[in-house]
Amino acid sequence: MPALAHTSRAIARTWAAHPLPVARAACAATQTQTQTRDISNVSQATGSSSFDSPFKGAGSTTKVPSFAAYRNKGGEQGPRIFQYFMVGTMGAIASLGAKNTVQDVLVSMSASADVLAQAKVEIDLAAIPEGKNVVIKWRGKPVFIRHRTEDEIKEADDTKWESLRDPQPDSDRVQKPEWLIMLGVCTHLGCVPIGEAGDFGGWFCPCHGSHYDISGRIRKGPAPLNLEVPAYDFPEDGKVVIG
Ligand code: FES
Repeated sequence: MPALAHTSRAIARTWAAHPLPVARAACAATQTQTQTRDISNVSQATGSSSFDSPFKGAGSTTKVPSFAAYRNKGGEQGPRIFQYFMVGTMGAIASLGAKNTVQDVLVSMSASADVLAQAKVEIDLAAIPEGKNVVIKWRGKPVFIRHRTEDEIKEADDTKWESLRDPQPDSDRVQKPEWLIMLGVCTHLGCVPIGEAGDFGGWFCPCHGSHYDISGRIRKGPAPLNLEVPAYDFPEDGKVVIG
């Protein structure tokens, strides 16, 4: 019987493409009958199966409460606006909290007021006579300020700096030739050199015998570098700000 049904379906498909409308209509009727028969056969087959639901009696005993009283009467637009408002507000509050937290951490890591006060030191140069040294404290280190004489400036300029251990012209170490400002820390191991001493009329470090000239350049002894020149500025005549 399946072979016969297959043959009849093939003939119906052949006539479905026939040029005559009558033939096509007859073919369509035949196909409809065939499909109806097939469906009824399937229904009969299904009706003969047996299925036992594991939820016996569930439909009759379970009562689903009505939530109609809780439904929003104004449609979806009202709750959606409220949700947007709440999300936006919570986001703004969270951002503000995060910003304040980061700001507090950064402020706690920055330098305290007393440290900032030591960051710059202003010196009145009028109090330093020509040919004299002054030592001040800046950021915990000694700073030498030398008011140089004309002879000392000439001596510093005339030195053949190219052949020195740490070659540097005097003009690179001063902003004004009469004022020599540098850290009073020996570049060997950090001792404080003594002023107006040594073989070159500048500074002498007694720890291991380093000699610096009148421009603070290393001339003799174990120190490898010239005395360091800090950042400084002359904001007005007679004043210098270090730092
Ligand atoms: S620390 Fe100055 S010479 Fe050694």
